[in-house]
Amino acid sequence: MLNIAIDGLSGSGKSTIARLLADRLEIKCLNTGEIYRAFACAFQDFGYSTVSEETVKDLAKRTRVKIEFEGKKQFVYIDGKEYGTRLRTEEISALTPEVALFKVLRKKVLKLQRDFAKHNDCVMEGRDIGSHVLPHAKFKLFITATAEERARRRYEQLKGTANEAKYEDILKELNARDYADIHREVSPLVPTKKSYIIDTTNMTIEQTIDYIENIIRAK
Ligand code: C5P
Repeated sequence: MLNIAIDGLSGSGKSTIARLLADRLEIKCLNTGEIYRAFACAFQDFGYSTVSEETVKDLAKRTRVKIEFEGKKQFVYIDGKEYGTRLRTEEISALTPEVALFKVLRKKVLKLQRDFAKHNDCVMEGRDIGSHVLPHAKFKLFITATAEERARRRYEQLKGTANEAKYEDILKELNARDYADIHREVSPLVPTKKSYIIDTTNMTIEQTIDYIENIIRAK
């Protein structure tokens, strides 16, 4: 199977890049952040009072997770429930790294991800795909951009929507998420020795995709 691992910081453009790259290569794209986001929604709905190893373990034990595709669109179901636009609210964005911290949940998601890669040519996008989930992926890409540029992009994206937020708040939240993703004990966000590091600060999405496609086609 052709497996392409894309990891990177929040707001680096990795989801869009992964989706467009998968389109060009005519393969599936698995957004793994959405799986963790769905678990964060379920965590809220179960009404646990604090995020701890016990509560996340309970959640992981009690629930069943399933991924389905309608055409290119991915849907994550936890016990049959799909969370739609709630997945992307700032509240869920803040809760997700806390829930994603625990090994027991990561193990459950790991199995799902590896099964998917085993049966599908795919671009898989997340934080620990190249380093942990798919160590044998044919291509590993690590997408970065400065925190200010990433916050600016997110601000523009949310402007005029129900999730609109202040630039300063977005930047603060991004920095907190970067810190949590980079410094956690289990599966921290790190490029591997074989990762192509792609800084998109001064690149458009189109330029980035062309650049990546050239790397892949050249091999
Ligand atoms: O990619 P996205 O920003 O949607 O991911 C949401 C959160 O899920 C991240 O901040 C990270 O904490 C967590 N995540 C993870 N491992 C992945 C993908 C996402 O821990 N492979």
